[in-house]
Amino acid sequence: MFYEPTKGNQRLAKNPFSSLIVPRPIGWISSKSSDGVVNLAPYSFFNAVCYRPPTVMFSSGSSTAEDGKKDSLRNIESTGQFVCNLVTWETCEQMNQTSASVPPDRDEMELAGLTPLSSNVVDVPRVAEAPVHLECQFVQSIEVPNSANEDRYVMILGEVVGIHIQDDLLTDDGLVNVARMRPVGRLGYNDYTHIDSSSIFTIKRPR
Ligand SMILES: Cc1cc2nc3c(=O)[nH]c(=O)nc-3n(C[C@H](O)[C@H](O)[C@H](O)COP(=O)(O)O)c2cc1C
Repeated sequence: MFYEPTKGNQRLAKNPFSSLIVPRPIGWISSKSSDGVVNLAPYSFFNAVCYRPPTVMFSSGSSTAEDGKKDSLRNIESTGQFVCNLVTWETCEQMNQTSASVPPDRDEMELAGLTPLSSNVVDVPRVAEAPVHLECQFVQSIEVPNSANEDRYVMILGEVVGIHIQDDLLTDDGLVNVARMRPVGRLGYNDYTHIDSSSIFTIKRPR
């Protein structure tokens, strides 16, 4: 079958795009408003962009707020800082809870019953229940061009300036034990997956 996103297709219940690029990592983004209110929300249009300097991106769709921005984008553009918290098997329910639309003056970490932990470089709390945190300095936001003028997505780039890893996730050789970390990835619709030892295999690169 052939699907053209701008035309849609009656045979499919939904646009298949996000069900095909899977699994997607989830950036569980904490940020702080200029008034100091803590915000937390999951973003699965999220990924690593490059190694040096270590850079991440996520894309924020529009919101019904007056400025059309989601709280995370507004906060990051005004304070220049954020943290990506890793979503694992243990916290996926709370991650989902923090995707609810909540007024910008409510502390979403507190609402989800999560514990704030201060960061080392940026002035944004980390989620204590998450075993990995990337402290990020905002680099740039880029409005994604949209010829159909339908939706407004803004891509946020952040440089990773500090990485926290829970000690028991490191092997004696100084590697990350991903199976023990059990990160959760997003599939299409409302489906998710997670990594454990049965889903990891190794392929050596050719010379
Ligand atoms: C797993 C998951 C992934 C999501 N990914 C995105 C995304 O990539 N971009 C986006 O705009 N919204 C995404 N959302 C919806 C936002 O989390 C939701 O709009 C949230 O309320 C935004 O919060 P904020 O206004 O506090 O930033 C996602 C929701 C879930 C549950």
